[in-house]
Amino acid sequence: MRLADKRILLGVSGGIAAYKSAELVRRLKDQGAEVRVVMTRSAKEFITPLTLQAVSGHPVAYSLLDPSAEAGMGHIELAKWADLVLIAPASANLMARMAAGMADELLTTLCLATPAPITLAPAMNQQMYLNAATQANLKTLASRGILLWGPDAGSQACGDVGPGRMLDPLELVDRCCQQLAAEPLLAGVKLLLTAGPTREALDPVRYISNHSSGKMGYAIARAAREAGAEVTLVSGPVALATPAGVTRVDVESAEQMHQAVMSRVGECDLFIGCAAVADYRPEQVASQKIKKTGDNDQMVVKLVKNPDIIAAVGALSDKPFTVGFAAETVDVEQYALDKLQRKRLDMIAANDVSREGQGFNADDNALTVFWQGGQAPLPLADKLTLARHLVALIASHYRR
Ligand code: PMT
Repeated sequence: MRLADKRILLGVSGGIAAYKSAELVRRLKDQGAEVRVVMTRSAKEFITPLTLQAVSGHPVAYSLLDPSAEAGMGHIELAKWADLVLIAPASANLMARMAAGMADELLTTLCLATPAPITLAPAMNQQMYLNAATQANLKTLASRGILLWGPDAGSQACGDVGPGRMLDPLELVDRCCQQLAAEPLLAGVKLLLTAGPTREALDPVRYISNHSSGKMGYAIARAAREAGAEVTLVSGPVALATPAGVTRVDVESAEQMHQAVMSRVGECDLFIGCAAVADYRPEQVASQKIKKTGDNDQMVVKLVKNPDIIAAVGALSDKPFTVGFAAETVDVEQYALDKLQRKRLDMIAANDVSREGQGFNADDNALTVFWQGGQAPLPLADKLTLARHLVALIASHYRR
């Protein structure tokens, strides 16, 4: 009974996935939750209030201006009653109205009036989900702290294939348990995390590096600390302040990062590799500044392979729960899945770094997280919001 005494307000909006809401109510009740259901006008076209009343054991609310309902539990009372508002399915239309701050029917009004955390389980056609307007609304909602759970990808009721399927009711129940747990999500967990670029010296004044700013990794360090983890951050050279409560170890090169990680990994429970580690370094590092010579228009630098840090962690017999990143410009899913297998990772967060305004050195990012037999898109958001979602997702898998 992981939800004993917890009060969940389940919002149901109009979409074919509304048929799963009855199952969701039953599974929430199995865990001891008290569930009250609020439906939108269009949800009633997909499933009847009577069905949800029967499974929840309470009258279903759907009218904002209903004197008899207000005489029972009024809408403000209902908004205050909830420990968590879960909207499943959340349609594109409902999310657009929420993003605009509308109070045009009972459910949208409750979302404005509730002090409880709000979480959405989007469900819609894949093209509607990928539409720029829907993505902008998701970003707005995420930036206000609204949690987005899912959607899943796969074949859809309309025959399309892609992202937009509502998460399975059991997965949603699991997330509710995590969200309402008395303990922070990563309480007592020792996290070792890499962030930023590495610099591979050519001579005392020059190096080979990349555009990683460290923003993504530092956001994860902060989010994990907020979630109760003990965080050690092995950082390449960046211009960022250390998040409060985080222990930082500064390194420059991939070899130094490798050494810093391998000497600490035995004490950690969870390892996240967010650093953009240089795959190669110059074979020779000149002891003095390399001079430009008049007779040579070309210069050849021989590179040798750096150690693969996360693969070395993945190869340990007693490895921690290991989460990698994949920075890709083409065939993102294929390359990410290959890295998941080859480096023996538990999860991998893939970003398409060819996209304008996200990835390297940007303030925003979008990820698709893969694990054995599953995946979850984390839509475009500022890196801290995204990191909080990622940490919650990692925690739900780490705790299994
Ligand atoms: O720092 P920001 O500006 O905020 O940008 C964030 C980011 C784009 C750098 C981040 O989101 C990201 O994608 N980090 C991983 C970058 C990367 O090196 O990806 P990769 O696909 O080349 O590597 C795959 C995984 O192996 C990564 O977990 C990487 O840390 C790890 N790796 C790679 C090479 C190596 N020698 N050792 C490693 O551990």
